[in-house]
Amino acid sequence: MAVLLLEREIDRFFVDHQSQLLSHHPGLSAHTLKRELLWFYNLQGFNFDRKNIFDRLLAGEPLAYIVGYRFFYDAFFKVNSNTLIPRPETEIMVAHLLERFGKVASLSFADIGTGSGALGLSIAMNLQKCQAHLSDICPKALNVAKENYFRLGQHFTHEQEIQFHLSDRLDFEAGTFDFIVTNPPYIKALADRDQVHEQVLQNEPALALFLPDHEYSQWFTQLFSQVANKLKPSGYFLMEGHEAHLDELVTLMGSLDKFKDIRVIPDLTGRSRFIEGIKNG
Ligand SMILES: C[S@@+](CC[C@H](N)C(=O)[O-])C[C@H]1O[C@@H](n2cnc3c(N)ncnc32)[C@H](O)[C@@H]1O
Repeated sequence: MAVLLLEREIDRFFVDHQSQLLSHHPGLSAHTLKRELLWFYNLQGFNFDRKNIFDRLLAGEPLAYIVGYRFFYDAFFKVNSNTLIPRPETEIMVAHLLERFGKVASLSFADIGTGSGALGLSIAMNLQKCQAHLSDICPKALNVAKENYFRLGQHFTHEQEIQFHLSDRLDFEAGTFDFIVTNPPYIKALADRDQVHEQVLQNEPALALFLPDHEYSQWFTQLFSQVANKLKPSGYFLMEGHEAHLDELVTLMGSLDKFKDIRVIPDLTGRSRFIEGIKNG
């Protein structure tokens, strides 16, 4: 199919089904759809099945799962239904860490709940020298992270060592770290469920999104204790979290008496989004 013809078909498809598409895919534009599908067409060539893709979009399947990739920070990451689709706000953590430590630093770090590997691999590929430890409790997600590492091999040198750990949070042996970063599951399964878009509920892995309400504080207490044990003195911790629960988590983290300079950082829309803290020296 000629590219021009395909572009016209995508435009027509978008106009004809706009309200249905927008109810499933909030914020989707004809421009984004065209950009992603033309990219996918170039990738797939003769296997590109326009009807199948349009049907899946109308059924509400996320575009990233249909094309199998999502651009994050400065590379395309493979994603599938076992991994969260990396979000733009998570890119702020990469920028924040690189600004804090400088790209030429030689650092050891952990990314807990790595999923597709988007966060940990983006940080690692931008540090000249590092030992990166990427963990996930889901073997299928961890396999996608490994695949992304091998796919993106041209971005890495032997000075960037990457290890993968099938593990609950930091339950693996790898010494201590200069910094620890995480975008953990942080939605309360009952209390916050109503605020989650139907498309996310239907398609993205529950393990990546939710924690049981009654285990929430306990889960994070354990996480912060592990972080305190595995950070070097004055090591740095950065975490993405739920706007409504960050203050509660800051208090919890403070109550351990292991961290200083704990504060909430907003995202680009000004909403509370991240917590940072420094392990006592
Ligand atoms: C919100 S997703 C983040 C994925 C990726 N880091 C990103 O930012 O796109 C959370 C990830 O944590 C993993 N996870 C859930 N519980 C975990 C646990 N107890 N220990 C380690 N990883 C966990 C999930 O499988 C999922 O991949």
